[in-house]
Amino acid sequence: MENSIKTAVITGISSGIGLALTKKLLAEHYTVIGTTRSGRLLDFDHPRLHIVPLEATDEQSRTQAAARIRSLTDSLDLFINNAGTAPDVFTMEPTHAAFTQTLDTNVTGVVFLTELLLPHVRPGGQILFVSSNMGLPRNAAPNGPGYRLSKAAINMYAAMLATRLADQHVRVTPLHPGWVQTKLGGDQAPTTPEQAATGIYQAVVSAPETGQFYNVALSGVESF
Ligand SMILES: NC(=O)c1ccc[n+]([C@@H]2O[C@H](COP(=O)([O-])OP(=O)(O)OC[C@H]3O[C@@H](n4cnc5c(N)ncnc54)[C@H](OP(=O)(O)O)[C@@H]3O)[C@@H](O)[C@H]2O)c1
Repeated sequence: MENSIKTAVITGISSGIGLALTKKLLAEHYTVIGTTRSGRLLDFDHPRLHIVPLEATDEQSRTQAAARIRSLTDSLDLFINNAGTAPDVFTMEPTHAAFTQTLDTNVTGVVFLTELLLPHVRPGGQILFVSSNMGLPRNAAPNGPGYRLSKAAINMYAAMLATRLADQHVRVTPLHPGWVQTKLGGDQAPTTPEQAATGIYQAVVSAPETGQFYNVALSGVESF
């Protein structure tokens, strides 16, 4: 792998926030290992970008992706759990298919890929979870049952991980990226993916206390 100062893994870089984060971190001289479901990324290439196939809901795919990532680097500075889905965000009553797809992707996929990569995050490194303020209990509303529960679960996992990794000096940061113009966020969102990526990068360089929930829209942490 070409030498660069730091190495990041980002999941779900085929579009939206993940693709913008990839470009932002490459501009900040990172080597980026990005995952897509197809193992390809159309219309963008870079000598410091490596693409790894990952279907987050599939255990074998997670295991193969982790092995491929370990073959590229054994020391991660930054691991960004970004891949996510929100098929029920406009509906109130849970349907089994959307609920299962959401929990399998946003919770099971995230937790078990993270567990595989934890040993490779270096002391002083950081794990980000692109979560949502829709997963904070004070923001409860009737829509998006699977999505809200999935992000609430990942906020809790991040808080637990922060305590578990404190001795290893790995910082854990669940975050809300703002409402962002992506396939998931829709056209009406006020924030571009590039603005969200710049804001998320601030959650890296501003070094928030581990376990704190970072809100890009506020440029800082807020209480759970
Ligand atoms: N946009 C917003 O307003 C907003 C607000 C709060 C939080 N978020 C969070 O931001 C993250 C990124 O979303 P986005 O807004 O950038 O939407 P997006 O453009 O739809 O990107 C989602 C990414 O996740 C990938 N993905 C979805 N399901 C997957 C699976 N089963 N296995 C592997 N990859 C999968 C997608 O891959 P494919 O292209 O193959 O589907 C895509 O790369 C998500 O976690 C989302 O919950 C977004």
